[in-house]
Amino acid sequence: MQIKIDFIGDKFLSADLKILSAVQKTNTAKTTTKAKVPNSSTSVSIDHWSDKGLKEEFQNLRAAQTYKGSKDETLSFTGATGETVWVIGLGDKTKFQAEDLRKSVAKAFKAANGKFATIAFDVAGFNTTHDEAHTAQLITEAVYLSNYQFDKYKSKKSEPTNTTLILGNVDKKNTAKIQKLIDSTINIGESINVIKDYINEAPNFLHSEEYARRVEADVKKNLKGVKVKILNKAQIQKEKMGMLLSVNAGSAYEPRVVHLTYEPPKATAKTKHIALVGKGITFDTGGYSLKPGANMAGMKNDMGGSATVYGAFRAAVLEKAPVKITCILAMTDNAVNEHATMPDSIVTARNGKTVEILNTDAEGRLILGDVLDYACDQNPHYIIDAATLTGAALVALGNQVAAILGNDQKWINEILEAAKEKDEYMWQLPIINEWRQDIKSKVADLKNIGTPMRAGTAIGAAFLEEFIKNDIKWAHLDVAGVVDSQSHLPYCSGHGASGLIVRTLTHLLVNAK
Ligand code: BES
Ligand code: MN
Ligand code: ZN
Repeated sequence: MQIKIDFIGDKFLSADLKILSAVQKTNTAKTTTKAKVPNSSTSVSIDHWSDKGLKEEFQNLRAAQTYKGSKDETLSFTGATGETVWVIGLGDKTKFQAEDLRKSVAKAFKAANGKFATIAFDVAGFNTTHDEAHTAQLITEAVYLSNYQFDKYKSKKSEPTNTTLILGNVDKKNTAKIQKLIDSTINIGESINVIKDYINEAPNFLHSEEYARRVEADVKKNLKGVKVKILNKAQIQKEKMGMLLSVNAGSAYEPRVVHLTYEPPKATAKTKHIALVGKGITFDTGGYSLKPGANMAGMKNDMGGSATVYGAFRAAVLEKAPVKITCILAMTDNAVNEHATMPDSIVTARNGKTVEILNTDAEGRLILGDVLDYACDQNPHYIIDAATLTGAALVALGNQVAAILGNDQKWINEILEAAKEKDEYMWQLPIINEWRQDIKSKVADLKNIGTPMRAGTAIGAAFLEEFIKNDIKWAHLDVAGVVDSQSHLPYCSGHGASGLIVRTLTHLLVNAK
């Protein structure tokens, strides 16, 4: 897709589809009688349209007489030169926020995509926040996110579209600023699309060895200057990652630890160093503690945490983030064969702690524990890990909200702020000492589960905390609910990977000081 910015209005004028906004205003009539009900009515306003001809065409429409411009109310007509015009109601303009705009734009774009060669948005008209560049960015973002499709396994693929998006009627003095924001929005949007492909890929193709290869190829092709190190099984054995190896024991494939390093152009000794760590279970059968069939389908998404942090790493590198970033992805499937780890097994983690594995389906914390210890050895100031760690996260926070837990409130607050900034839902859960006690084993240092059906998400985090050393500030994101199935968000595909949380983490990395 091509994106053109248009400040003169000529590209807007010649577009095949023009998308404009209408707002609803409330008129309170002056009356001298004591009315029992407030004497107010609502009507549509299109005063902000700069094209007088279009305004007239609209006003002459029969449908315009009853059109109120309420939120999501749309009206379509054919303009004087045969172009299609869509009017999208914003409702009360003062209540129309950034996320409303993303949703409105996504709905419109999805309806229009493939049908028009040039689609133009009247940016000025959608600018309800008095920040035109931001509005242009939000429109671009919503279009980019909505434009994703995963159809590589369909015999009949949708026609490749060659759409030009026109950001019309912007103030000339904002062009440079808008161009810069669009470029970065595309960097982020493309990174999200790359990781959606990883998440949506079938597990018989995307096993650990292949996943590591694809990430390596992407880094080499697109992320100049990033160092790539990939640990194979022999190297993982040398690292004594006993927990990761125990999960991999039942696999037909070798485990992988992908270790990426980025240094900003002007790094000094004082440059902040952030480590991103991700759970990359390419398929989770549960192992010997086998998942019931209905719970097992969909477990190709169990590498979603690693994909999420990789997406943020990728975007932050393209955006030349001012911080040093280490990105560590732990990859294996959790499968069953004659070598698979049996429940009751005791293994030794990389940090020397012994762990009784009472449930092989609590595998994410095992692979993460070892790579978190490895991440600490890279001496970062901060760590964030992301993982589809617990079904309990869905019970607590649904499909819509990611859970955040950690050992440093200031660090957690920074991440929560970034999430708020990007309109991605995130909520903190506590880790309390009672739950830290709940993972002590009678026969080893730790066990990999706590009391069944009790605070599962926090128990998972309490386990991970055992592998953070040197007082490094750490936050854990349980993204089990949000990596897929965002049917309520029109800018995510209704099924499959969502790409959520990448925008939050990228924002955090790019704006870190
Ligand atoms: N990958 C699952 C968590 C999950 C469940 C993600 C549903 C997305 C949707 C994880 O490995 C798991 O199986 N966790 C167990 C932990 C339990 C055995 C302590 C769970 O949540 O049931
Ligand atoms: Mn599991
Ligand atoms: Zn899992």
